[in-house]
Amino acid sequence: MKIFITKKIPQKGIDLLKSAGHDISIHDSSTPLSETELIKASQQADYVLNGGMQKFDANFFQNCPNLKALSLMSVGYDNVDISAATQHGIPVSNTPGILSGATADVAFLLMLSVSRKAFFNHKRILQGEWKGFDPTANLGIELNNKTLGIYGLGRIGFEFARKAKAAYNMEIIYYNRSRNEEAEQILGARYVNFDDLLTRSDVLSIHAALTAETKNRFDKNTFTRMKNSAILVNTARGGLVNELDLIEALQTGQLWGAGLDVTDPEPMDPKNPLLTMENVCILPHIGSATVETRDNMALMAASNLLAAIKGEKMPQIINK
Ligand code: DGY
Repeated sequence: MKIFITKKIPQKGIDLLKSAGHDISIHDSSTPLSETELIKASQQADYVLNGGMQKFDANFFQNCPNLKALSLMSVGYDNVDISAATQHGIPVSNTPGILSGATADVAFLLMLSVSRKAFFNHKRILQGEWKGFDPTANLGIELNNKTLGIYGLGRIGFEFARKAKAAYNMEIIYYNRSRNEEAEQILGARYVNFDDLLTRSDVLSIHAALTAETKNRFDKNTFTRMKNSAILVNTARGGLVNELDLIEALQTGQLWGAGLDVTDPEPMDPKNPLLTMENVCILPHIGSATVETRDNMALMAASNLLAAIKGEKMPQIINK
C-alpha cells in the first residue's frame, strides 16, 4: 500500500511500516505543506500518517476520495475535521496515553520555572546583568501546600496532579465535563465549578482539548476572577487562551505568571512581548518531546495504520 507521511517521524515507526512491505513517501522538511501540496501528496496515497501539525479540513477529505485511513501521531486532533472524515468514511486515529507522563513533566517544569522566575534569571546571566547575590531580588513563590486547579482532568491532567501532590503536597481541585473518580480516590482531588477553579487555584493548569466551546476559554473575564498571585500553565493548545488578554493580565499584575508550552499561532513571533516578561516561561510545544515518548508515538501511529490496512479497526480510532 502507498503511505504518505506528512513530516519525518522517529525511524522506529517508519521501520515498522517498511517491514510490512509498504511503499512509503515522507515530506522530510521543516516547512509544513501548503493545503494544495498536502492534498496533492495525499491523493497519491492510500493511507496518510500525520507527523506534523497539518490541518485536515472538509476540503481535504472531499479531494482525497481514495484515502482509506488517517493516523495522527498526536493525542490532540483539533487539526482534523472529524465529522467530515466520518462523512467520507475515513477512520482517524490518535496516540493517547503514552505521552501523558512526558507532557505532565513539561507542565511541572513550567510551574516550577515560573514560580522561581527561572527563564528570566537565565536570560539575565546571558545578558551580563547578574551582579552577584542579592537577598531581596528575584524572589519567587513556593508551591508547598498550595492549590493546583486542573482544567480538564484526563490522563495528562491526572499525571500532572499526581506529580504535584507527591512533590509539594498540593491540594488538587478540578473542573471537567464529568467527575474523575480515580483522581478523587487516589489524589483526594475535589470537583469544583469553573468559577471556584478560577478563584481558588494558586496554579491553574490547562489540559483540555481545543474545541469550539473551549476556544478562548481563558480571557480577560476569567483572569479577573483569578488570584493576583496565580500562575497559569498551558500545555494543551494555545487557542484555549486569549493571548492579548493574557499579556494585559500579566502586565497589570492581575496574574502573577504564566508557563506556556503551546501558543497560537505556532511558531510564536519572536517579538511577542510574553517572551521578555519576568514571570513568563515559554517552550516551543515540546510536551511529548522525549526519545522514548516520540518512539512510542511513532510506533502507535504506525500500528494504527497497519491495523487499518489489514481491514481491522484501528486500536486508537477517534471516530468509532
Ligand atoms: C499532541 O500529541 O497533541 C501534542 O500536542 C503534539 O501535537
